[in-house]
Amino acid sequence: MKQRAKWSRPFTGLILIAVMVGQFVSAAEDPAVTRTRNQVLMLDDLYKTVIVLVTKHYVTSPAIVSAATAGKLIFAAMKEKGWHEVRLLGLTDQITNPENKPADAFEKAAKKSLLAGQTSYEEVVSEGGKQYLRMATAIPVVMPECVMCHSNFKDNKGVIGSLSYKVPLVQ
Ligand code: HEC
Repeated sequence: MKQRAKWSRPFTGLILIAVMVGQFVSAAEDPAVTRTRNQVLMLDDLYKTVIVLVTKHYVTSPAIVSAATAGKLIFAAMKEKGWHEVRLLGLTDQITNPENKPADAFEKAAKKSLLAGQTSYEEVVSEGGKQYLRMATAIPVVMPECVMCHSNFKDNKGVIGSLSYKVPLVQ
């Protein structure tokens, strides 16, 4: 009886280690999700840099076509080419174009989370047998020129909008 107890200890240890490793493996993220998130972060930097630079160099008066309008044309072209989908969202009560209101459950949950201070909000979804990463990133009032057309942004130091992405998982 004594000997049995002695031998059972290393086995118990091995079982414990196996359970711990199993938990670690099951908690590890699907590498496809990590790759796709990196792609979204790259796109987010690219789109936001373009919008800021276009505003800085070209949008000198409220009469000029906004970088938001130009950005939405680029998003439509990328969608048509089958790359990914991006929506510009307004997270304040005053929205210039009703199209930009958070629409479905994901966008409404993203609004709550971003306004609560998260830098991004994401979900993996399946549609027609394909998997996508949906990810919404925050837009703050990045430069004084924004207030030229959005007077309600004045003195708003928080998040006022979002870019909402839907990107096929990069396998
Ligand atoms: C020249 C005027 C103008 C300037 C400057 C401008 N915007 Fe806009 N913005 C617009 C217009 C017009 C729309 C609606 C575009 C559409 O959906 O067709 C819009 C839409 C938005 C939206 C989506 C919500 C909504 O109100 O429809 C956000 C968020 C936004 N702008 C943020 C910004 C930020 C941040 C800046 C500064 C980098 C900025 N805007 C500068 C005119 C402007």
